[in-house]
Amino acid sequence: MSKSLQAIRGMNDILPEQTPLWRYFEGTVAGLLDNYGYRQIRMPIVEFTELFKRSIGEVTDIVEKEMYTFEDRNGDSLTLRPEGTAACVRAVLEHGITGGGQVQKLWYIGPMFRHERPQKGRYRQFHQIGVEVFNLDGPDIDAELIVLTWRLWGQLGIRDAVKLELNSLGTSEARGRYRDALVEFLSARLDLLDEDSQRRLKTNPLRILDTKVPETQALLADAPKLEEYLDEESRLHFEGLKARLDAAGIPYVLNPKLVRGLDYYSKTVFEWVTDKLGAQGTVCAGGRYDGLVEQMGGKPTTGVGFAMGIERLILLLETLEQIPESIARQVDVYLCAFGEQAELAGLALSERVRDSVPGLRLQVNAGGGSFKSQFKKADKSGALYALILGDDELEQQVVGFKPLRGQGEQQNIAFDALAEHLAACVVQG
Ligand code: HAM
Repeated sequence: MSKSLQAIRGMNDILPEQTPLWRYFEGTVAGLLDNYGYRQIRMPIVEFTELFKRSIGEVTDIVEKEMYTFEDRNGDSLTLRPEGTAACVRAVLEHGITGGGQVQKLWYIGPMFRHERPQKGRYRQFHQIGVEVFNLDGPDIDAELIVLTWRLWGQLGIRDAVKLELNSLGTSEARGRYRDALVEFLSARLDLLDEDSQRRLKTNPLRILDTKVPETQALLADAPKLEEYLDEESRLHFEGLKARLDAAGIPYVLNPKLVRGLDYYSKTVFEWVTDKLGAQGTVCAGGRYDGLVEQMGGKPTTGVGFAMGIERLILLLETLEQIPESIARQVDVYLCAFGEQAELAGLALSERVRDSVPGLRLQVNAGGGSFKSQFKKADKSGALYALILGDDELEQQVVGFKPLRGQGEQQNIAFDALAEHLAACVVQG
């Protein structure tokens, strides 16, 4: 196929075979967030480039290398959103819905765009479900966010495959003091640092902590620890969070090297990781960002949130074969009609049935066809039952009801009794 007619590398179609699992996943998360009192917000996919530079940080990988930025016809620099937090903060500020300390517990879903090297679990267009909470500054809400994701993993049947990693970055003052100490320590050992870390030492030194280079990792063993620089407020906050996770029985691992790739975090940061997906193992990540709203021109307003990667969680469900049986079947009943009169009667009958049995997934044969071909289509649809309507049935005002998956014999059902019969067999059964 000519190149221009292919999808862009790293941007995937989600085919009809896959959408039932996506809808199940999205529906499960949406239901859970409803239950915890979170409300959905929808932001545009494109924002002014400046928004992401100011919030995510000029010297992060995302802003330096990964954004889809372009000039529109007005000459404005716009960017396809690489994440949702920045736009959510922009939206709450613009509409004044966090003013006067108003609490907001929000969630969003949608595509995000980052020009990364595509591989399993890492795409250029990917989807997140994110949650952001404003104006609640205690560890109780940090804990709630983790508790609700833990419940979600339970509902999805993937709890045993994910692990919670936790750290505290402290307030920005504490982090500043720590940054100075780290820079001093590493500057004295500059020759031993890998090239990338040498560059980061000038731009974003904390990111050196999550280096993958073994020699740099070894060097860091003796480096000052972030924990030792935590201020009292951050320490108490972190203790409060850990106590709540203990009370809720949620296991976690403290990871002092967890610093995250976006600059806006303070205090709590966390990641849910799995070892079942290879290199792209973080399925959900987030933390607190108490300074971000003010940094973007708002009144001091605390924030905390997370985002989960839908593709990665779908991959995990598939890998662990945690796919509910109910979503495998898309059709309950398939109606075959033979001849014009039967087709007309079939149309009227199926609409009557749909009126009376709203949850029923009834597919009506389209495009005619012989008995054999319609039957083949009925079977292929995955339906539990075929309904058969020909001249003989029409004359008797009955429809043939044939189980396709070995649940009993074929029988005739009167038109008037069909809805009730289907409701009993399919919707309740
Ligand atoms: P993030 O860690 O950049 O955080 O992304 C969150 C999640 O999105 C990741 O853990 C991963 O599951 C998924 N993800 C990220 N990049 C890709 C990719 N290229 N392909 C597939 N999945 C990906 C944020 O975006 C923050 N806004 C989270 C947050 C919300 N923090 C506070 N509030």
